[in-house]
Amino acid sequence: MNPEIGEVLISGSQIKARIAELGALISADYAGKEVLLVGVLKGAIMFMVDLARVITVPLVIDFMAVSSYGTSTKSSGIVRILKDLDESVEGRHVLLAEDVIDSGLTLEYVKAHLSARNPASLKVVAFLQKQRPRAEQASADYLGFEIPDVFVIGYGLDKGEHFRNLYCVAEYRPID
Ligand code: IMP
Ligand code: MG
Repeated sequence: MNPEIGEVLISGSQIKARIAELGALISADYAGKEVLLVGVLKGAIMFMVDLARVITVPLVIDFMAVSSYGTSTKSSGIVRILKDLDESVEGRHVLLAEDVIDSGLTLEYVKAHLSARNPASLKVVAFLQKQRPRAEQASADYLGFEIPDVFVIGYGLDKGEHFRNLYCVAEYRPID
């Protein structure tokens, strides 16, 4: 086992079960509507794909890529749009899929960017949210799991582009 993979916080089967619940919830809420599911690359890919498979209403997939972190584990405070949507947002029911809400900065930025284009509705589904008591985080309408304020890897989340393919969420343990 790679020593950088620390304690497993969420197992693959827990992820699967929670996503099934979220899919049912979202499908009920969007009954009679079409969802434009927007994934924020790259972290949200695993979550977004598995979620899309359990949503039963009509659905269109699109992606945005933003950069807020570089390669460090601390937020830079700067969000850059690396790839914008292909689809038009106007009049659509946009569901934004995020991997993790940490400071909430990325989410705030992307939400503002999308709502400026007049969607019929705009909601957020986040896989993880970190418990950061003093931060005024943008919050998710649908949330997978709350986790402690630690750096995590797996299920789309990376450290220096590695570990996205781990089928669990684990604490990242730096080796010195
Ligand atoms: P925020 O702007 O501080 O909310 O940071 C959000 C982005 O930073 C996420 O979309 C992730 O790409 C990345 N990020 C934040 N925390 C972690 C983590 O624990 N592991 C991996 N990536 C993270
Ligand atoms: Mg990242």
